[in-house]
Amino acid sequence: MTRLTRADLDTLPAYVAGRNVADLARELGLTEAIKLASNEVPYGPLPGVPEAIAEAARTVHRYPDMGVVALRERLADRYGVSPDRVVTGCGSVGLAETLAKVTCLPGDEIVHAWRSFEAYPIIATGAGATGIRVPNTAGHGHDLSAMADAITDRTRLVIVCNPNNPTGTSVRRAELDRFLAQVPDDVLVVLDEAYREFVTDEQVPDALETYGDRPNVVVLRTMSKAWGLAGLRMGFLVAQPEVAATIRKVVTPFSTNLLAQAAALAALDAEDEVTRRCALIIAERDRITEALRKLQLEVPASQANFVWLPLGDRAAAFGAACEARGVIVRAFQPDGVRVTIGTPEENDAFLAAAEHALA
Ligand SMILES: Cc1ncc(COP(=O)(O)O)c(C=O)c1O
Repeated sequence: MTRLTRADLDTLPAYVAGRNVADLARELGLTEAIKLASNEVPYGPLPGVPEAIAEAARTVHRYPDMGVVALRERLADRYGVSPDRVVTGCGSVGLAETLAKVTCLPGDEIVHAWRSFEAYPIIATGAGATGIRVPNTAGHGHDLSAMADAITDRTRLVIVCNPNNPTGTSVRRAELDRFLAQVPDDVLVVLDEAYREFVTDEQVPDALETYGDRPNVVVLRTMSKAWGLAGLRMGFLVAQPEVAATIRKVVTPFSTNLLAQAAALAALDAEDEVTRRCALIIAERDRITEALRKLQLEVPASQANFVWLPLGDRAAAFGAACEARGVIVRAFQPDGVRVTIGTPEENDAFLAAAEHALA
């Protein structure tokens, strides 16, 4: 057969999304199943968001503001930076792709931890770059000194996922200070803080506050998790103005769509509710961690809205056993299982399924 696409993509694993909840319920004959597989917050859209989307829907026959001016100004104000430093995109994963595009030529390297966010290797290969996976420590966190050692003269981008998806672990300020001091000035460091709003450890730095002014640092955030806009695809980053300007040139035009812009502005008006919801999730995260540890499971301390069970090659069987009881979790065979924190009732259903799976 005539080859029409790049041969190196043949072996690239596809991104696996959390399983469809309605499909599983139908399969099991349940009225509903529970999805704890995609790190969403379970409490519905924030107040004011559906109304803002309905209003914006009246003009979807028009292109959105390509400069995303109102939203960028609003984000800049919220995060204490100038608007020229803010770039929005189709989810933070879309911006991560753009970052690979603006830094890498074929053969260049992107260093990231592993296991980490499963999109990173896909993004690296997709950009024609080489993804360099640095194994996590025995404690399931980033091995920052090995990551610094992995930087070569081909490295253009280093990604630090803090807290890390899927292990929930986080790096603290002292180690991050040390790491950033080791990264050459011409290598861009992306601090991916998709789960920042769930961090309670005061020693885990807010990258925008702590490192935002470093020339080679980009801070990546998303409105998919704490801000409840996963379905609309709204991510943003903060970089130095020159870096931000280059990213804006290459980002897919209009990729922050009309509804996403309107919804994000409304979500930013509801930050008190975001804070309240995050507190609920954090309390549940700590409760579930303790309950799982009582089941003799290893559970690394999580600073995100999920917990990690390093079950090794038992991961797939554990995931299947939970699904058989109507609870969808994310198994990453042969490393472990990630479980998103849901409502207290959903979490109880997961605990019951976990107990059953381990029995
Ligand atoms: C670490 C990390 N970064 C980025 C993303 C992408 O989020 P989105 O594209 O929805 O903004 C995720 C989503 O799971 C994530 O876990």
